[in-house]
Amino acid sequence: MGLSAQTLADGFGRRFHYLRLSVTEVCNFRCTYCLPDGWKKTAPLSFLRVDEVGRLVAAFSDLGLSKVRLTGGEPTVRKDIEALIAAAASTPGVGKVAMTTNGWNLHKHAASWRAAGLTHLNVSVDSLDTETFAAITGRDRLPEVLAGIDGSLVAGYSAVKLNAVLLRESAQAGFAAWSEFVRERPVAVRFIELMRTGDNADFFLKHHVRGTVLQAWLTANGWTQRPRDFDDGPAVEYEHPDHAGRIGLIAPYGAGFCDSCNRLRVTARGKLRLCLFGEGGIDLRDLLQHDADRAELGERIRSSMGGKAQGHRLHENRPGDTRHLAQLGG
Ligand code: 5AD
Ligand code: SF4
Repeated sequence: MGLSAQTLADGFGRRFHYLRLSVTEVCNFRCTYCLPDGWKKTAPLSFLRVDEVGRLVAAFSDLGLSKVRLTGGEPTVRKDIEALIAAAASTPGVGKVAMTTNGWNLHKHAASWRAAGLTHLNVSVDSLDTETFAAITGRDRLPEVLAGIDGSLVAGYSAVKLNAVLLRESAQAGFAAWSEFVRERPVAVRFIELMRTGDNADFFLKHHVRGTVLQAWLTANGWTQRPRDFDDGPAVEYEHPDHAGRIGLIAPYGAGFCDSCNRLRVTARGKLRLCLFGEGGIDLRDLLQHDADRAELGERIRSSMGGKAQGHRLHENRPGDTRHLAQLGG
């Protein structure tokens, strides 16, 4: 261990012990709101290697990091995903290792990823209807994804959460099915308000709907809002006496969304991003090559925090330079 643990904080009193680390820009799905034409190679594939990830997480852990999430693109298209999980999980101080996946191969790997050190799993499932799922993702794979979710529920994860993007036409139609789905399953399904990115302006105008439609449905059907924990991040969750699972909302267009921001991001090419909808990034990669650079790396991260803005500017139609979320993992 290097320095004694200190906390990363910004000028607005927010503390950061959660890192979202993209490990690839590649994705094998074609979600209508993200990569409707599929992922296309635009630059050489030189994503962070396992040893670089190990050094990065070690430096963040010196700064008080306790949770890492692996994202993409689709992180599980990396053949060395188990080694990446293990690199994060073996870092002292990192108690939670999470991953967000589209679930395409979860039915085969839920147990082995858990064994490699993964503790928390988020699976994206935009619809429980087979045809709607295929229409949104471009992949007719709902049965495999659902089998993977049920497999992960018996694999010993601390939490399994599902993400669904709240789309005007399909989401409302699906609320009742989701409520049935979580009757017996102890999972949280969190609807994410569709966010505008650089590439999806037309789609956004057509399909964006405010999270208030979900909240109205939940309230009308006997669901009540859970008290929020200090470390909840931006999700608001609802519970129901007859249901084992929860239904939640992540509303980036809602008031106060950025006030609870508790995360930093690093891209698959090693740039520190202070906000999902910011611009540019602070290159860390030159300091990821040698163990000896650990203190300097920590200092570069720490001294960058003053650049973190108070909030995003989505309301002014300014999504920053994020073209789509496959670029940096949502
Ligand atoms: N708006 C909201 N959610 C999005 N996701 C990807 N793009 C968008 C967007 N424009 C979601 C994915 C996945 C998570 C990583 O982010 O569906 O659940
Ligand atoms: Fe869909 Fe996620 Fe792939 Fe984008 S990165 S196409 S949201 S699975």
